[in-house]
Amino acid sequence: MLSQTAVPSTTAIDELKLRVQELKRELNAILLAHYYTLPEIQQVADVVGDSLALARSAEKTGADVIVFAGVWFMAETAKILNPDKLVLVPDAYAGCPLADSCPVEEYRRFRLQHPEAVAVSYINSSAEIKSLSDIICTSSNAERIISSIPPDRKIIFGPDRNLGGYLMKKLGRDMLLWQGFCYVHEAFAEEHILAACRQHPEALLIAHPECRQEVLRHAVFTGSTQALLDYTVSSSAQSFIVATEPGILFEMQRRSPGKTFIPAPKDTENPRSVCKQMKQNTLDKLVRCMQERAPEVTLPEELRNAALQPIKRMLELSA
Ligand code: 13P
Ligand code: SF4
Repeated sequence: MLSQTAVPSTTAIDELKLRVQELKRELNAILLAHYYTLPEIQQVADVVGDSLALARSAEKTGADVIVFAGVWFMAETAKILNPDKLVLVPDAYAGCPLADSCPVEEYRRFRLQHPEAVAVSYINSSAEIKSLSDIICTSSNAERIISSIPPDRKIIFGPDRNLGGYLMKKLGRDMLLWQGFCYVHEAFAEEHILAACRQHPEALLIAHPECRQEVLRHAVFTGSTQALLDYTVSSSAQSFIVATEPGILFEMQRRSPGKTFIPAPKDTENPRSVCKQMKQNTLDKLVRCMQERAPEVTLPEELRNAALQPIKRMLELSA
């Protein structure tokens, strides 16, 4: 008998994929998946993208149902943009620890200590944090969003201190940072990255801005998941050490079959740093959520409306 955690066979995977396609038709659903999800989830998705691309797809879709294979804040953003649509997730417990590192009451106090500041929040945050923010950003548009704020205005930025620190350095702009971080990107350390660079001298190091400065300073290119993907497609280099969640390697390899992609090492024992929450989106849970039309994302209308305003400002600025 198969245990709950047993890996499904190839035939079972194909059957589950077919079932997902049938259910999408039955529900008139669109399936959105982040680049960090499992390859078999990316293969059945209608749109695979980074946080910004998925928020844009959610904003524009004409489908009746949005099925979101990502983490909770992404599906919540889709619901904020689509109050009348059913938004389903394969696993309601697939949260983002970075978003969870910013509790609402503590953030409210932080904001109240700096009433004159513009509050910019990374999309990796709860609806409550968004509702207390002036504008949202993703790693794709953060530079543009920060640059749109007059230079004489003070900025508070949260919850990711690494992205915040990267923006401060890049834009020469002072900001007060919430001290949150993504455990996947924080795990990359200079020592192991430099060892990988020595081992693969022909490979270019590329990194996500959620990585620490000690890693970013060695990267030839820093950008969002989408920007990293685009860089590998357009670069003439043939080999890359990729310092971000290794789920993106599936699409990088698909787009550039002849190139070599090396996941940046977490340490010598763990050659890659994986987001466990993204991998909680499995095909069987995907089928079940579409069959049962649950778990569903719901939000009180007042909170949804308050969180919508800073998201709308972001989408207008990055149109
Ligand atoms: P992007 O999708 O904006 O690159 O963010 C990465 C991430 O950690 C998503 O949770
Ligand atoms: Fe959150 Fe990091 Fe996972 Fe993205 S990769 S969902 S920021 S824990």
